[in-house]
Amino acid sequence: MSRFLRMSEVPLAGRRVFIRADLNVPQDATGAITDDTRIRASMPAVRLALEAGAAVMVTSHLGRPTEGEFKPEDSLAPVAARMAELLGKPVRLVANWLDGVQVAAGEVVLLENCRLNRGEKKNSDELARQMAALCDVYVNDAFGTAHRAEATTHGVAKFAPVACAGPLLAAELDALGRALQQPARPLLAVVAGSKVSTKLTILESLAGTVDQLIVGGGIANTFLKAAGYPIGQSLCEDDLLDAASRLMSAAKSRGGDIPLPTDVVVGKRFAADEPGVVKAVADVAADDLIFDIGPDTARAYADIIAKAGTVVWNGPVGVFEFDAFAAGTEAVGRAIAASHAFSIAGGGDTLAAIAKYDLETDISYISTGGGAFLEFLEGKTLPAVAILAERAAQA
Ligand code: 3PG
Repeated sequence: MSRFLRMSEVPLAGRRVFIRADLNVPQDATGAITDDTRIRASMPAVRLALEAGAAVMVTSHLGRPTEGEFKPEDSLAPVAARMAELLGKPVRLVANWLDGVQVAAGEVVLLENCRLNRGEKKNSDELARQMAALCDVYVNDAFGTAHRAEATTHGVAKFAPVACAGPLLAAELDALGRALQQPARPLLAVVAGSKVSTKLTILESLAGTVDQLIVGGGIANTFLKAAGYPIGQSLCEDDLLDAASRLMSAAKSRGGDIPLPTDVVVGKRFAADEPGVVKAVADVAADDLIFDIGPDTARAYADIIAKAGTVVWNGPVGVFEFDAFAAGTEAVGRAIAASHAFSIAGGGDTLAAIAKYDLETDISYISTGGGAFLEFLEGKTLPAVAILAERAAQA
C-alpha cells in the first residue's frame, strides 16, 4: 500500500479541520441509535483536532437519502446528540453548510448528512471544491465508506490544501495490511455466509495468498456438492460448482486445501423452532437442509485455527440466529478468540456473532467496515485511500 499522510503528522492548531467520518449507524423505527460503535470509533480523530486547538467540522452520510431532498429521518441529529455525550461538550448540527461554516477554534460542529448535497454520489468536482474551500486540512477517517468515490471521500481530497488519513482509517489499513500483506504464517481465512456469488472474488483473491481457507455457511454447501456429497434441499449455487472445484484444486496445487465439513446439522425447514439433527456429510437426505457444521467439523476447524499465525474472519458458518444451528459459529468464534494468532474480523453478520458471544475483547482487530472490509479482502484498491496516497506522492 502506498504511503499516505496521517493526521498525527499534520499541524492542526488554529486550523479549520474538516473530518469525513463514517457515522452511518443503525437506528430503530423511532430513530434511536441501536449500535454506536462507529460513533465511538470516530471520536479519537475529533479529540485529536479539538485538543490541538482546531476549529472542527465533522460530516458523514446516514443511509442513502435522495440528494437535495431533506427528510427528518435522514438527519444526523441523533448522531450529534450521541457525539455530545461522548465528547462531554455541545455538538452543534449545521444544515446547508456549503456556503460557509462558522466554527471557532476548540469548537466542533456536525455538518448535516453529506449525501443530501447534490453531486455527492457522483463525486462532482464543483461540490468537492466548495467543500475544500471550507477547510485548511481535510481528514478522511471514514474507513466504512473508503470503497466509495464520492465528493466527501474522494473529490474533496483532490482540492483541499492538505489531505490526510484520520486515526481510525489509518488503524484499519494498518490492521488489514498486517493481516494480509505481512502476515504471521500460517495465514488462515474463514470465509462464510450464504452465497458463493457474493464472495467469489474474495475467495479467488484469498485462495492465492492464504495458507488455508475454511469455507462455511451456504458457501460450504456449494463446495460439498462440487466434491460429490449429497446436500438435499440446502442453499446451493449450481452455476458456481465449477468455480468451487477450481478453488479446491488451486488450493491443493499450492500445497494447502479447503477442508470440507465431515458432519453437519440439518433441519427440514428454515424456522427458529426447527430441531437440529447431526449427520455425517454422506448421510444428508434428499429433503434435508444443511444449517450448520457438525461438532466433529467444529473441532477440526478449531484445531486449524489454534495453529494459525493470522486469522481473517468474515461470515458465520451456520444459521447462528437460531439456537439449534448456532453451535458451529460459536465454536469457530471462540476458537478465533482463544487463539494466539493476530485475528481480524469484519462484516455485519460477523460482528453480530461476535457481539452475541461476547468475543470483542479477544479478537485482535474488529473492522468498522462492511463493504469496505470485503473490498479490501478482494484485493481491490479503495478509492478514498488511493487519492490520499496520490496527494502524499505529490507533496
Ligand atoms: C456501510 O454502512 O457499509 C457504509 O457506511 C457505506 O454505506 P453505503 O453502502 O450506503 O455507501
